Amino acid sequence: MSETAVIFYSYTGHTRALAQKKARKLHADLIELKDAKPRSKVNAFVAGSFASLRNQKAALAQPVPDLSGYQKIVLLCPIWAGHLAPPANNVIDALPPRKDVQVFAVSMSGDSSSSRQKTIARLKEKGCASVQYQDVRSSTIQ
Ligand SMILES: Cc1cc2nc3c(=O)[nH]c(=O)nc-3n(C[C@H](O)[C@H](O)[C@H](O)COP(=O)(O)O)c2cc1C
Repeated sequence: MSETAVIFYSYTGHTRALAQKKARKLHADLIELKDAKPRSKVNAFVAGSFASLRNQKAALAQPVPDLSGYQKIVLLCPIWAGHLAPPANNVIDALPPRKDVQVFAVSMSGDSSSSRQKTIARLKEKGCASVQYQDVRSSTIQ
């Protein structure tokens, strides 16, 4: 088991590509979160955006695995309606304390300023040892 977990959700593939790159670079375990049922576009834009705005969790195919054996957790997630998409909330909820957490928020605009500070505050409340948050514009992912 690596000391770093790269955990991600991706709807259209950009975040997956970045997560795979990060995991290779960090020699990390790569964990993909998948929806319990395939999400239609309408569901993503309506129910998904609504849930994102309210920091609600997603119905996942598998629960978030036990992350207690990792020191560093790298969380990558798309931005929906200005906020991290719902699966990020499953991860935040499942985070053990005292972890070093790095968030990559992947969006078309490269701007998630409406949720950035709130997300950092939530992670600090979870007792993370350190928190980093970085915006990524999806068009810059190769
Ligand atoms: C439901 C939904 C809502 C979105 N809302 C935003 C948004 O508020 N701001 C933004 O810049 N991009 C938004 N996007 C674009 C995605 O954040 C962007 O395409 C991202 O790269 C998707 O990552 P993925 O390919 O891993 O799913 C939205 C996309 C979807 C599907």
